[in-house]
Amino acid sequence: MSAQPLRLAVAGLGTVGIGVREGLAKHQAVLSQRAARPLKVVAVSARDRHRDRGVDLAAYDWVDNPVELAGRDDVDVVVELIGGADGPALALAKEALGRGKSFVTANKALIAHHGGELADLAETNDAALKFEAGVAGGIPVLKALREGMSANDLDSLHGILNGTCNYILTVMEREGTGFAEVLEAAQKAGYAEADPSFDVDGIDAAHKTAILAALAFGMRPDFDALSIKGIRQIAPIDIAHAADLGYRIKLLGLARRRNGAVEQRVHPCMVSKDTALAHVGGVTNAVVATGDLVGQTVYEGAGAGAGPTASAVIADVVDIAHGCRRPAFSVPADDLKALPTLDPMELDGNFYLRLRVVDRPGVIAEISSVLAGEDVSLASLIQRDTAETDGVYVVLTTHRTNEGGMTRASRKIGELDSVLEEPVMLRIERFDQ
Ligand code: HSE
Repeated sequence: MSAQPLRLAVAGLGTVGIGVREGLAKHQAVLSQRAARPLKVVAVSARDRHRDRGVDLAAYDWVDNPVELAGRDDVDVVVELIGGADGPALALAKEALGRGKSFVTANKALIAHHGGELADLAETNDAALKFEAGVAGGIPVLKALREGMSANDLDSLHGILNGTCNYILTVMEREGTGFAEVLEAAQKAGYAEADPSFDVDGIDAAHKTAILAALAFGMRPDFDALSIKGIRQIAPIDIAHAADLGYRIKLLGLARRRNGAVEQRVHPCMVSKDTALAHVGGVTNAVVATGDLVGQTVYEGAGAGAGPTASAVIADVVDIAHGCRRPAFSVPADDLKALPTLDPMELDGNFYLRLRVVDRPGVIAEISSVLAGEDVSLASLIQRDTAETDGVYVVLTTHRTNEGGMTRASRKIGELDSVLEEPVMLRIERFDQ
């Protein structure tokens, strides 16, 4: 092979950084063929030079300040695996793209918050901006949407985008245990972060949803437009009731385009056991994308971990070795649209409401009266006794109704003297509406 190597700098040598280094070493020969030139790491940077990472890094130049990697004449591509929406990751991205060096990252926060300006910078300087590993880890879903579905109008996608939440909900269902207990066990087993808030509060899934929506709809990522709710309030009773109704509870990221406006949401919701996503358990991720020509497509696989994330990062590098400069969000940055956001309160849906109430005559009448006042029509209502706590549970489902009316009803019901804790409201998500 006589072609010049593509020279890489890797910033961040945590699990993923070391995974990328291992993947490049393991498949060196075949990657040289697939990339039509050798892929060579020349320099690295990480916070702690002396940490034992279990691999020999002596062959690479060490740089303490990651931003300096972008200034090196012997680096063609910068691979950023530091993380964080701002700070060194953003500085490195701007420096690399500003100098016309292609930039590969697994950092969804960076792209969700700054993807638009970075795409501008990449195109101005004829560099590639690639972030396949940022959404659903090892599943090549961005490539599928950007390239494989480029002939389609993509108006709707949804997915299980956070493995930690999916794992917690799966174990809660299987074991009948509560959120806090499962989270603690997941943290001890290394499945959940010591600070789990980005995962369990829906932020991580929202970063990924913003990126998917941008790519699918040809718009700039607009993280602030997302409505976000996590899974902390989900209790075993919700999971049991969902099962009785033929549903499972999943944390979904959803993006839909309707009449030139966009709806972007992350929240736990009930999905029918007949859907593909209901059967995606544990830490697995999955994305469902519907195109007007192809119809529904489903992508499923590992959303995190050293191997899957390295798989996506290295595939981006191989594309760059072939000179790929496809626009990051499917269409040139100048053509990215600013699409208005649909107000969730104006959307319709079917809902589930779980209440803990005092067990005395007239309580159901009070609740029904509030719902009727907001024009919410009940589909079912069940009282479930509980030995665990004071009062009784009342769980109800609605016919299709306005989310704004339902939200107001839930708030008013929560203020009733007979209601003992904040109501829990979930959408029953239907994908044919
Ligand atoms: N923490 C994420 C998850 C993986 O639990 O899916 C990285 O985005």
